Order: sequence, then structure tokens, then C-alpha cells
Amino acid sequence: MAEPRPKPSITILYDADEERVRDAALAKGEKFPTLVSYQIETALTKRGYTAKRLAAEATPIKRLVRQIEDDNSDLIFNVCESLGGAGDEERRVASMLELLDKRFTGNSSLALTLATDKSLAKKLFEFHGIKSPDFLTIAPGKVEGTTPSLKKFPMIVKPTGTDASMGITAKSVVRSVEELMQRVFAIHQEFHSAALVEQYIEGREIYVSLLGNPPTVLPPIEWDLSKLPPEMPRIAGTEAKWERDFKAAREFVPEDIVANDALMSRIRDAALGAWNALLVRDYARVDMRLTPDGTPFVLEVNPNPWLDSRAEFAMAARRATPDFSHGDLIERIVQIAMERPMRERSTAR
Ligand SMILES: Nc1ncnc2c1ncn2[C@@H]1O[C@H](COP(=O)(O)OP(=O)(O)OP(=O)(O)O)[C@@H](O)[C@H]1O
Ligand SMILES: [Mg+2]
Repeated sequence: MAEPRPKPSITILYDADEERVRDAALAKGEKFPTLVSYQIETALTKRGYTAKRLAAEATPIKRLVRQIEDDNSDLIFNVCESLGGAGDEERRVASMLELLDKRFTGNSSLALTLATDKSLAKKLFEFHGIKSPDFLTIAPGKVEGTTPSLKKFPMIVKPTGTDASMGITAKSVVRSVEELMQRVFAIHQEFHSAALVEQYIEGREIYVSLLGNPPTVLPPIEWDLSKLPPEMPRIAGTEAKWERDFKAAREFVPEDIVANDALMSRIRDAALGAWNALLVRDYARVDMRLTPDGTPFVLEVNPNPWLDSRAEFAMAARRATPDFSHGDLIERIVQIAMERPMRERSTAR
């Protein structure tokens, strides 16, 4: 009988900054979730993998390059969503892994680049016929957009290149030209980024997780923002996500949507279309708004979404058929990356 294949050895790469943020929070007596890199290490070790964590320090960068170059594990589990706390470095970590011919989990530097620039992503959505809110991109001295219907308030103004709802607060939903201009200038100043002005889409907040190549669409997760306090806009902004605990606003699988085949098929098409348009692979979460008439609007794609055991991606995996526990999900992401044919230094899929 053939010997079972030994399990690959794994290095879990994460932003060292996360530890500093966690330590600062703990020092203030605040609660802080177990870092995802630990959760992954525990899950893999329990399943018999040799797994170790490697904290990616932004400086000196040469040291990190050398550490990666010298790393002799079979696979890098890349959960660097930033480097030195900077989200726009996420794509550069993937670039480095590509240049060093490393096998790693999750998305290529190209997909991370396309998805991080929300304005660029929307241009690709438009080309592929994927519905996304009408928009204008306003950089200092430059306006662009192809959407004549962006006329009515409310609109929402966000930085083009941040995630985790940075720069998205109650003030982001604007109802007049004055509010709009103030918010655009604030984004230029605070984030040194162009401002993305979008038609505000009234509707249900839906997150669609996808896993595999080609991807399986996992059950949608809804965040019921109608339960936020009445003075707050119905958005997943900084306040709702990070600042306060709004227990009444729950996340769940919306059974009415799941039972509606025609609607599910539109949601699936939108999610898969967005995945394909941005050249995503392995795993991603597509954020959408579903209008009362049942039209899904894609807000953004998150390649390599947060793998915390309580986050939307793991929640969706647990509700899939067949279901994936958090450990199953982590192991599946390893298998998907191990199945990838290694090409000569290519950033393409
Ligand atoms: N055009 C829109 N219409 C209505 N609500 C919107 C719109 N754009 C953004 N939002 C709200 O703001 C939230 C955050 O927006 P978005 O997903 O673009 O930002 P993000 O900071 O990248 O989020 P993430 O933490 O998912 O990476 C959305 O989940 C949604 O609730
Ligand atoms: Mg989002």
C-alpha cells in the first residue's frame, strides 16, 4: 500500500503590527480577539501539520526578504492584510512571495492590487457588466466617472483604497452638495487618497464568501443594520464595526433569500462575476447591497478576507453543505494552495 503523503510544513506569515496593536489594547485593559495567525497555527497543529508563525516586520525590509528566502517550509499561509499596519502594503507582500518563487495561500499581488483600488475595481465591473453603484472618483484637480445617473442624494463618500471601513463613518453618507464637498476634501486631507463618491444604495447588507478554484459560493451572510440606533446611518462603518457593540444588529444566513432560487442565482452571478473580473483565486468575500426589488449591487471584493473563526467567512463556511468547521476551512485553504501548479514567476492566476 502506498504511504500516505506527508502533510506540508507551513509558515504562517502575518503583520507584526497586529501584535503591537493587540498588546496596546490589552495594556489598556481592553478585550482583543486571538490573532488569526494563532487560530490558524492551533487549527493546523491539531490536524498534524508542522506549522509555525512568522511576524512580518516592515523595517528593515531586507530582513523580511531574507527570512522568506531562507524559509524552507512547503507553504506560506499568507494572512498579511497589511505590513507595518499599512493596508496598501498587502499587495507588496504577495509580490515579494511571487518574486521569491514561494508557494503561498490566497490571492496574487495582481488581484490584491485590483481589489484594493475600489475605483479601478468598479471600472472593471462596468466592463464585465456587473452592477455596482454609480460613481465618480475625485482626486485633487481631477474628476472621472462614467455615470450620468449619479445625481440624487444621498450619496456615500469613501477613500478609494482603504478597508476595514477606515474613513467610512456616519459623516460619509451625504445629503447635499456642501456635505459632499466637505467629505471629499476631508478624504483628500486625511487619507491622501482620491475620494470615491457613490450612489447610496438603500437595501440589505449581504456578504458572499467564495472558496476554491473554480469557486464554490457559500451561503450569504446578512448583517441586519436596521437594528442600529435610529440616529446612525444604515452602513457598516467604523462605528458599527469597531467602536461599539451593537448586539441587536445580528449577522445570520437570510433564509428568505436562500429559499428564493431566482434571487440566489442573481446573487451568485454577481459574486462570481466580481471574482472573475478582479482575477481572484482561492478565497474571497464579496460585499453587496440588495435593493428591495432584488437587485444585488456589488460594493467591493475582499480577496483574503479575515479568517477569524467568528468572522463572516468562517460563519458562511459553517453553514455550507457540506459544512466546514473553522479547522476544515483553514485546511481547505492549504489544500487549494497546494494544488496550484507553480509557474515561473507569474502574477497572473
Ligand atoms: N454605495 C453604497 N451604498 C450603501 N452603503 C454603502 C455603499 N458603499 C459602502 N456602503 C456601506 O459602507 C460599508 C463599508 O463599505 P466598503 O465595503 O466599501 O468598505 P471597506 O472599508 O472596504 O469595508 P471592509 O471592512 O469590508 O473591507 C458597506 O459594508 C456598506 O454598509
Ligand atoms: Mg466592505
